[in-house]
Amino acid sequence: MKNLIFDISIILDFSSQKRDKQFTSSRKVFELAKKRDDTNIYLSSSSLGTIEFLKYQQLSEEHPELTDSQRKTAAKKFLTSLLNDFKIAKTPSYIDIESAEINTALIIASAESMAARVVTRNKDIFLNRPDIAITPEQLINELNVKKDSINFIDLGKQYFYLQPQIEKNMDEVLNSTSFIMGNKVRELEEKLADFVGVKHCIGVSSGTDALLISLMALDIKPDDEVITTPFTFIATGEMIALLGAKPVFVDIDPRTYNIDPDKIESAITPQTKAIMAVSLYGQCADFDKINAIAAKYQLPVIEDGAQSLGASYKGKQSCSLSTIGCTSFFPSKPLGGYGDSGACFTNDDDLAQIMREIRVHGQDRRYHHSRIGINGRMDTLQAAIVLAKLTIFPDEVEKRQELGECYSRLISEHCIDIIPPYITDDNTSVYAQYTIQVKDRDIIIQKLIDAGIPTAVHYPVPLNQQPALKTEVFDLPIAEDLSHQVMSLPMYPYLSETEQQKIVKAMVSYG
Ligand SMILES: Cc1ncc(COP(=O)(O)O)c(C=O)c1O
Repeated sequence: MKNLIFDISIILDFSSQKRDKQFTSSRKVFELAKKRDDTNIYLSSSSLGTIEFLKYQQLSEEHPELTDSQRKTAAKKFLTSLLNDFKIAKTPSYIDIESAEINTALIIASAESMAARVVTRNKDIFLNRPDIAITPEQLINELNVKKDSINFIDLGKQYFYLQPQIEKNMDEVLNSTSFIMGNKVRELEEKLADFVGVKHCIGVSSGTDALLISLMALDIKPDDEVITTPFTFIATGEMIALLGAKPVFVDIDPRTYNIDPDKIESAITPQTKAIMAVSLYGQCADFDKINAIAAKYQLPVIEDGAQSLGASYKGKQSCSLSTIGCTSFFPSKPLGGYGDSGACFTNDDDLAQIMREIRVHGQDRRYHHSRIGINGRMDTLQAAIVLAKLTIFPDEVEKRQELGECYSRLISEHCIDIIPPYITDDNTSVYAQYTIQVKDRDIIIQKLIDAGIPTAVHYPVPLNQQPALKTEVFDLPIAEDLSHQVMSLPMYPYLSETEQQKIVKAMVSYG
């Protein structure tokens, strides 16, 4: 992501009535930068007052007929309208006042703090930092070069949209100095419980810890068995094994990649203590069927919804579909923080209380530990960030669905031999991953690399074949076969349709 801070000279150029050569290039650089999705544009907080004042002066020259108060109002309005397009780059507290004239030192400090360049007509005042300053004419040449690479996930645009709210929330935490389990964690828990439609949300330190805490709350012990899918991220099986229990792998549905409910019952033994289903790639597993089998054998069900928060199954939200739902706020997840955190969800009051205790070393009151727990607490800063992101999450979920459908339409129209994701009528997917099935994976990955398009494989080795978990032979032909055929394409809410077309076009010569 390119960050650009426009200095006062450029802003006044393009707002002036004198449409000279400078007006044209300043206007053009603004228009070009504004529409590029790999570029964010800022005004330094240090220049806002001067912009308003100089605009007032400009109005005095160009509109002598206006009254003083009309000019002041118009200057304020101008500044407000700028802030529809620009975000404010704040001046950090670690400025080097002696490095340059004060206004230049302030803008350099802003630029350095966000690896930005300053677009300016006054390059000479940046003499000691020529790397930071760029003229509109130089920048126009750069911006006219077509963007040639696509990111797998790009969090930069989302940050640009949410920056004021994220900064505000983070400042509140920094000033409160309540860094662990502060008020924002409770606020997030309430909002998420509401969003998911359950009684309790317990914010924790990661998606992995959410799984561990839920297994511990269900009292999973050494030699117990937990039925799960082999087609997932390692954490699912790993947390079962960490407690000394045995992950019993059941093969998957070849169309949804989720655990095949019809194969669960035959895997149940007297040692079976729980079922842990994963809602892979952002589509929920078939919980009505899973819950019916679980009820027959009185087993609790955990949903590993690390990838599926925001998805729905039969009109109900992911993480509300079983005894406990778990999710992750890893940065690349559909709802991600800027570090590790996660959450457990349940309607069961007792389990909620137990999970809250396990999260803080099994503590039921200060320094009194009624059970063995872990350090599974959530950072307040992560809650502050996730809270800001939650405000636009429903829109982002919708955007993800549109992008997923667009990919599938383009693939069906243009590619033979590529199988797009299959979303059942009962489900909506959040497409945490947009994962396709191909025959010659290496060839198609190379074609995409040649076109500057990154891909990933989720997951190349099923858990039953991972050295750490390979203790027993399971018959899992579908998962093993599909692990050689799946691959994921770039997916995030700010991907453009043009980029999707480019990605699909790069695969056409394959299909
Ligand atoms: C299916 C699944 N389960 C669990 C996790 C673990 O989440 P975290 O990385 O937050 O610990 C992930 C994260 O990648 C995941 O995809």
